Amino acid sequence: MNNTVRIAIVDPIDPSRNSIKNLLLGIDWVWLEAECSRYEFFSEIVEQTGPDVALISLDADAQRGLALVAEVALAHPTCAVMVVSKSQEGSLILQAMRNGAKEFLSAPLRLDDFMSALDRIRGASGNKQGKSKTSRIVTLVGASGGVGCTSLAVNLGCALAMNEENSVAVIDLDLALGDADVWLDIIPDYTIQDVADNITRLDYSMLKRSLTQHATGAFLLPRPVHLSSTPPMTPEQLQRVVALLKATFSHLIIDVTKTFSPLDMAAMEVSDNIFIVTQLDLPCLRNVVRINSFLEDKGLGARVKVLVNRAGMGESQISMNKALETIGREVFAQIPNEYATVIESRNNGIPFVQEQPKSRISRAIQQLALNVDSSVATVAEEVEVEKPKRSGLFRFLGSK
Ligand SMILES: Nc1ncnc2c1ncn2[C@@H]1O[C@H](COP(=O)(O)OP(=O)(O)OP(=O)(O)O)[C@@H](O)[C@H]1O
Ligand SMILES: [Mg+2]
Repeated sequence: MNNTVRIAIVDPIDPSRNSIKNLLLGIDWVWLEAECSRYEFFSEIVEQTGPDVALISLDADAQRGLALVAEVALAHPTCAVMVVSKSQEGSLILQAMRNGAKEFLSAPLRLDDFMSALDRIRGASGNKQGKSKTSRIVTLVGASGGVGCTSLAVNLGCALAMNEENSVAVIDLDLALGDADVWLDIIPDYTIQDVADNITRLDYSMLKRSLTQHATGAFLLPRPVHLSSTPPMTPEQLQRVVALLKATFSHLIIDVTKTFSPLDMAAMEVSDNIFIVTQLDLPCLRNVVRINSFLEDKGLGARVKVLVNRAGMGESQISMNKALETIGREVFAQIPNEYATVIESRNNGIPFVQEQPKSRISRAIQQLALNVDSSVATVAEEVEVEKPKRSGLFRFLGSK
């Protein structure tokens, strides 16, 4: 299989075949090679069209369907057979698997079940090029309020999106007070609330409608318009949405709150990396240590990387060496303090990586975007951190 998955389906029941067809047609990278309403013609169709996947519905006639599974699996070993049925009876599942089915899915077919099954088939065939395999999810969490989490999330998303090989969605999971839409000057028609409202019948066209594209190419899934104390969806539902987005986008950048809510945690659980955004001051660094040990307890410690924002402010900051000693882990990137650039960018609603791509802060973000795909920790060379004088609050931390 290359990046496009070619599929042939057979289902003699018209309404259910149409609903499978509609679901598949909504997925950019699925090519519906053939649809067939008769079991007896399907093997011939597979022979002629050579799809990557044959999807066989058993509900019109389980015995004929099972026989077809065996026939296709035997005659076309490179074509993965998937079965879909309303029945979840153990003996039926067993027979389908014995006859050569790779996956048994329940009807009506759910998009996320189908995507996971495709993922497994790709994994089993050793194909690592599928979009969902190469996509990367990064959650940014601030070590304190106002450390620059959203600035970095939005600009990182845009910097990634400006590389045409990438497709990027930024998810604003700061559901109450999130402001990613302000940074991108987007007045959204739909938000994550619309996704939540349609969660039981979610398909790609619905999901795509809820995203708004920015000039840099990045898509935004905005926070709900109305403030509410009730989360719009459950953590499981959020993970379902992320799984669907993951199938379409090469990068998902998630801006979470600083409350470690169940939804924030659900995002972190499905992320490849968790970037803790900190500044070089005592409250932030102390929180980095606390967040780090909290995430380690949750089994997420290996995904954590620390981003130092507003670095290079000299004497008013804790030195980098002291910070490294305090947090006990490497710093993945240092983003320089560049107030004028950032504030102008926010006021204009144009990400600084687009508005001032040559500025030091933009270059640091562009470097970060390049490093996102590699797991190797790097320190941006841009920033020289000055040695602070020992004074006031910082004195107790000792010298470098
Ligand atoms: N590298 C930087 N240099 C200068 N100013 C910055 C930098 N990064 C962020 N800022 C400024 O810091 C302020 C807070 O940034 P931002 O809203 O991104 O933080 P946040 O962590 O998302 O805040 P919140 O806790 O409200 O979600 C903004 O006014 C922004 O302009
Ligand atoms: Mg924010």
